[in-house]
Formats: sequence, structure tokens, C-alpha cells
Amino acid sequence: MIPVIIDTDPGHDDALAIMLAVKSNFFDIKAITTVAGNSTIENTTRNARYILKLLDREDIPVYSGALKPLKQELIQAVVHGKSGLEGIDPKNEALLTNNAVEKIISIIKSNPDITIITLGPLTNIAQAILQDPETMKKVKQIVSMGGAIKVPGNKNRVAEFNIFVDPDAADIVFNFPVKKTIIPLDACNNVQLQIEDFEKLKGTDLYEPVIKMMKPYIKNIGENEGVFAALMYDPLTIYYLINTKVCVSKEYDIKIETKSDLTRGMTVAELRNITKKFNVRVVEKIDKESFKKDFIQILKGNMFSTKLSQTAGVK
Ligand code: BDR
Ligand code: CA
Repeated sequence: MIPVIIDTDPGHDDALAIMLAVKSNFFDIKAITTVAGNSTIENTTRNARYILKLLDREDIPVYSGALKPLKQELIQAVVHGKSGLEGIDPKNEALLTNNAVEKIISIIKSNPDITIITLGPLTNIAQAILQDPETMKKVKQIVSMGGAIKVPGNKNRVAEFNIFVDPDAADIVFNFPVKKTIIPLDACNNVQLQIEDFEKLKGTDLYEPVIKMMKPYIKNIGENEGVFAALMYDPLTIYYLINTKVCVSKEYDIKIETKSDLTRGMTVAELRNITKKFNVRVVEKIDKESFKKDFIQILKGNMFSTKLSQTAGVK
């Protein structure tokens, strides 16, 4: 089991990512920390607690963090609806703790070599870096869903949502000297699930809530992004750690655009062949058939009855 903190803003795909992480038994989840992004901090924290209750894993601590990006106002996502989890719209208490940054730092102090997984804007992680850079340097790696390298953005022409929401935080994280990996739109756009895929969960406790969540998610993505499918951004980020061998990745030198209105949040990669200084590993492709198969098997609780997919050529 690899020790992790999951920093997240649930969100439909964040919810699936938490399910995948928990059900895989691959991670020792020290905490889930929440951030404003897809919805307000009240909603993302409420939704995180709802998912853990659904999974019967309320023993995993949830700590709430940033209410808004470092320097800008929060711009919420559209595709997750007002509650952040349209279709379910949980009513449980959010129970804000407002201490995600302190908890991230203290967990790292007692678990150096931990992996931080981020599935939302990078506000909490940037604040932890500003507060205690020496401790933050001890982490094994930061693995983030975010960025659009050689494909268009999903929030403006060039930026991916998580980076767009808090480009100043992303700038701090991308410049910080620890090992970083991103799972950008380049890899995520290729993996699209339909209701028929989720129907395979029939007979499990997760079937009903997942179908309820995915119907509006697919409809909203279709209406807003022109793709009628469930995009698996955050689950793919978890899957990268579970089954790295079906992923293709490469190192890049990437800077974040923080100032321009037109290109706010762009992950600007040095694509000329002139640099040998790389700051981020970029996952460019994830084998979609392997993901689909393993994702369903893991959510069904069959992790140990089926071996993870192996693939020679990533499709
Ligand atoms: C990212 O933005 C959010 O809407 C999703 O949860 C995902 O983390 C995709 O751009
Ligand atoms: Ca997210």
C-alpha cells in the first residue's frame, strides 16, 4: 500500500476517483483534503464525506481547505451542477475543519516519502509550500490531474479547469523542486465512458449512486463541451499510480500563464528541442481498454480475482 493524501474538489469524476482509490486497496489514504473548485468548499467537503460514507470508509479523515483561489475569485465548474454532485445532491453535514494545510504539513512530517495526489485546483498545496517549504520538499512526489499540453483547453481556448481556477497556485507548485507528474487533457480526452459501461456495476452497492451521478454528468458535458460521454479525468489520475505500465509519459519543461485574460491557466510547454531542464513528467496516453476493464473490476470489488491489465501497445 502506498501512503497518500488525496486533495480533491468532488465533483463527479473526483467521486469516482475516490471510489477507485478506496476499492483498489492499493493506497494507504492518510487523509482526504478538500478545496474549492468544482463547487464551493461546503459542497466539495460535503460530497467527499458522502462518498466515504457510501464506501463505508468514514474512518478516513476529511480536512477542509481553501475557500477560494490564492489571488482570484472562485470560478466554479458547470458540468457538476450547483451541488457539485448533481443527480445525488447530498444533504449530509459538510463539517468544515478549515485546517487542510496544517494537516497536510503534519501528515508529511510523520510520513515523509508520502505521495500527494491532487484532483482539483492546487490552492491547498501551494499554501502548504508557502507555509513550510522544507517539509513539503520531503514528499515523494505530487501527482496531479491538470493541464492541456498539445490539445485545446476545457475552460478557455488553452487552459484546463484545475489550472485555470488557480493559476497562481499552479505556478508555485510547478516551480517547486519535488518530483511532479501531471495527467492532462491530452491523456484524459481519449478515455470516455458511457452509461452502458457503468451498467456493469449492477448488483453492487455502488450501482445506483453511480448511475444517478453519471446521467447528469454525461448530459452536462455534452451540452457544454460537445462530447456526450463521462470523461474520467480524476479516476485516470488514480489509475496512473495503480497501473503505470499501461501509461506513456515524457518529461517536459512547463510554465504557467498567470496574467493574460485570454490564456489564463495555460500550461505552456517548451516544445522546441532546446532544453534539458525538465520540471514535470507528463502522462500523454493511458490505455483506454485497460482502464475501462480495471476500473469496473476494482469498483466491483474484484481487485484480487483479476490481474490488472497488461498491454504492450497503448491504445
Ligand atoms: C478537472 O476539472 C474538474 O471539473 C474535474 O473534476 C477534473 O478534476 C478536469 O479539467
Ligand atoms: Ca476534480
